[in-house]
Amino acid sequence: MTNASAVSRLFEPASLGALHLPNRLVMAPMTRNRATADGVPQPIMATYYAQRASAGLIIAEASTPNAVGQTYPNITAIYNDAHVAGWRHVTDAVRAAGGRMFLQLQHGGRVGHPDTSGMTPVAPSPVPLPETIFTPGGHRSAVVPREMTIDEIRATTADFAAAARNAIDAGFAGVEVHAANGYLLHQFLAQGTNHRTDAYGGSVAGRIRFVVEVARAVADAVGPERVGIRIAPGLTVNGIDEGDTEKIYPALISGLADAGLAYLHMVFADPHQPLFQEIRRIWPGTLIANPDLGWGKPLPADGGRDKSEQLLAAGADLISLGRPFLANPDLVERLRIGAPVNQVRDEGLMYTGGPAGYTDYPLLADLQHRAETPEPVGP
Ligand SMILES: Cc1cc2nc3c(=O)[nH]c(=O)nc-3n(C[C@H](O)[C@H](O)[C@H](O)COP(=O)(O)O)c2cc1C
Repeated sequence: MTNASAVSRLFEPASLGALHLPNRLVMAPMTRNRATADGVPQPIMATYYAQRASAGLIIAEASTPNAVGQTYPNITAIYNDAHVAGWRHVTDAVRAAGGRMFLQLQHGGRVGHPDTSGMTPVAPSPVPLPETIFTPGGHRSAVVPREMTIDEIRATTADFAAAARNAIDAGFAGVEVHAANGYLLHQFLAQGTNHRTDAYGGSVAGRIRFVVEVARAVADAVGPERVGIRIAPGLTVNGIDEGDTEKIYPALISGLADAGLAYLHMVFADPHQPLFQEIRRIWPGTLIANPDLGWGKPLPADGGRDKSEQLLAAGADLISLGRPFLANPDLVERLRIGAPVNQVRDEGLMYTGGPAGYTDYPLLADLQHRAETPEPVGP
């Protein structure tokens, strides 16, 4: 083990809106499918998040702001009183454990299925997901989504704002608008999924319009210092083809630069990429960068610390990590002292119910105790 914490900015405090963060490590949002079928968080989720309360900030998993926005089975929601009550148990537990928490708001758009939500998914244009999608009955072919009318676009914006108010009622310090990873907002940004000829499509100004309106409506609802937004420039996940990535994001970020938002959160940020550097230059506020640790590969032995420090040096203010937090409830301490990290045990357990692969990852202290305790001697 090394002890380089004195020279690492990762463990320096930071402020975010009205929040004081004890370190610069953020738990990235991760869908874990442990809610009820109608989206109510379960008690085990309070345990899971409280275990990870030493993160500077937790961004809780994607939660749908309305019924048609549901992506997969057993994801969380935040549009009725039962959802608020379920989440309140989680935020209470995290606060009691000394942590701070935002909630991610995600509308799936075309990434949804009638077998899951009971509804035909909606999207900017009737372009289906070019993949199968997981439903309660297993993987199914995607259906053609229904093109949103202007009235539906306005109603969806209002649903995001109402969901943000619910999240604050549920005890979250703020919300993250999910405009990344191929879900509804990203579908509006991308040429491959947005074929509209009205004010919400066509030019870059048209394609960014919905995302800017949602972010501003959410900021109006709960205060801009309680709102972040997540983007994934160039990511092709969920069949996304942006077309003009280099134009979309500078325009989007310029369109939000004066909104006073708490942060911009960038997925798979590369400190050497010109677009990352441009985004850092034009975004005036806090930038959370999610390093690319190698998707589908084992976690790096240092848990991502080196890549995180490179991003801080390149201008990021906070660093988000996903799988390292999933597998290591005490990640902050492990990174601080240079201890080895637990690997994700079984990717099959990421999206299933129950405690296995969820609340049963060992702390460093547990492992040390096990190593020091002699095996019982048999008769
Ligand atoms: C199990 C799992 C669920 C995820 N769910 C979400 C999600 O709900 N919202 C989101 O924006 N990203 C989600 N992601 C992506 C992570 O936030 C993160 O960007 C990704 O895992 C890369 O970071 P990492 O290499 O540190 O894990 C998920 C990732 C994993 C592993």
